[in-house]
Amino acid sequence: MRTAIYPGSFDPLTNGHLDLIQRAAKLFDKLIVAVAIQSTKTPLFSTSERVSMAEECTQSLGNVEVESFDGLLVNYVESRSGKAIIRGLRAVSDFEFEFQMALMNRRLNTDVETIFMMPKETYTFVSSRIVKEVASLGGDISFLTPPLVRNALIQKLSANP
Ligand code: PNS
Repeated sequence: MRTAIYPGSFDPLTNGHLDLIQRAAKLFDKLIVAVAIQSTKTPLFSTSERVSMAEECTQSLGNVEVESFDGLLVNYVESRSGKAIIRGLRAVSDFEFEFQMALMNRRLNTDVETIFMMPKETYTFVSSRIVKEVASLGGDISFLTPPLVRNALIQKLSANP
């Protein structure tokens, strides 16, 4: 069985993430969406909130599972017998960081490949950061996130203005 891991902060999951999950799930027997517990960024949503939103948004995809992970990504990938790490590339600006991360991960574990995938053109400008910023300023994000994420975001922002 070929398993791929799609890691990220998913704070929160966007339509761009979902598009990539659907594409990657077609290429592998199993896709694990891996929500990073420790991240250099301070997340708006707790780990369990990020995991449950991702679970609800992917429940129609039979070969997709959602888990959280801590520590080095390559160790987690190995613990799940993963063959590949999936990362999204939206624009050239993503490339430098992604390139650095992919080569470092390869250095740490030569058995794990990183595969870059491009989301649908409509989502190339979408990021969790932009979604949070627009939502916090009262802008419409309905075309950027699944409805349940939008509702959770509005609720979270009204509780933490
Ligand atoms: O969605 P993000 O924030 O771009 O995801 C970044 C993430 C979580 C994939 C990255 O920070 C990561 O892999 N963290 C786990 C710790 C680790 O292995 N760091 C070394 C990567 S070279």
